[in-house]
Amino acid sequence: MGRYGEMRGIKTCMDELLKRRVPLASLPTPVHYLERMSKELGVGLFVKRDDLTESVASGNKIRKMEYVLYQALEKGADTLVTCGGLQSNHCRAVAWIAARKGLRCFLILRGGKPSVPDGNLLLDSLLGAEMEFRTVEQFEDLTGLASECCSALQNKGRKPFFIPMGASTATGALGYVNMVGELAAAGDRFDHLYCAVGSGGTLAGTILGCRHFGLDTRIHGVAVCDDRATFEAELRRIGDEFSSWFGIEADLPGPSVRIDDGHVGIGYAMNTGEEFEELVRVARSEGLVLDPVYTLKAFLGMRDDILSGRVKTGEKVLFLHSGGHFGLMSTGFGVHSYTGW
Ligand SMILES: Cc1ncc(COP(=O)(O)O)c(C=O)c1O
Repeated sequence: MGRYGEMRGIKTCMDELLKRRVPLASLPTPVHYLERMSKELGVGLFVKRDDLTESVASGNKIRKMEYVLYQALEKGADTLVTCGGLQSNHCRAVAWIAARKGLRCFLILRGGKPSVPDGNLLLDSLLGAEMEFRTVEQFEDLTGLASECCSALQNKGRKPFFIPMGASTATGALGYVNMVGELAAAGDRFDHLYCAVGSGGTLAGTILGCRHFGLDTRIHGVAVCDDRATFEAELRRIGDEFSSWFGIEADLPGPSVRIDDGHVGIGYAMNTGEEFEELVRVARSEGLVLDPVYTLKAFLGMRDDILSGRVKTGEKVLFLHSGGHFGLMSTGFGVHSYTGW
């Protein structure tokens, strides 16, 4: 098989796959122009408002889940099982989707059960998700935990469907091929696109979407954890899934992408006060509220590229706001870095 796009029928195959979704999100999301920051930075700065995909299920995960849910329902699932940190945006989106569709949800969470839930965890609980709290060490054997949990549910007569962390599979990545379809349909063209990278599915789908819809955009994935080599390997894994599941030779990562691992800062889900100041500045300048874990770091990566000249004066830049607001409301995350009160 050749590279994506060279193989006969690949375009049709992708078009067919894009129809295999359960509509859950309010799409298309708008693209907003950031007037004051554009002037200040000397570029045309736009934001794709994927923080507006839904209310409680807002953010990038619901796009991926539209495709994953289709697969789960095809398999006759009645319980969505997934995993993540206590403040996982993905788990919260899955909990909402299950409630919305009359399914059950089972979450395997990393960390001890807090006495009072906040942020995403509060929503998981309100939405009726069953939860199991596991230590960081136990969480290392995620495959074991997942199969243990699914067997236990099957023994109770339930039909579980396991969704890997972040839904970053080839199926989930289709959600971001679809996102690029919205940009193409609106005739929006950008020189650069910036997004946060946590498990790689959003970036993988965006790369494939740009190829599929013929957008010649330089894609910058800003890592919020781990390093470039880890995410290149993740992209290859997702590419292999496209090949073995769908017969699409994805050739990921490919030449259109750059992975920036220079903005992880002091660590995943941790911010310095200086980083947090940028969140406050963007909020006050444009009314655009970022989340501290993902979009703030991606925004800092983009800003530094503009200031260093990697992005040239006058170029058009699209920033993907992938959501995550509920993490901001958790005492575990951003709030402790806020000194403006
Ligand atoms: C708000 C938010 N933005 C970005 C990401 C990164 O997306 P991905 O996991 O597809 O790399 C995530 C999840 O990891 C997220 O919750």
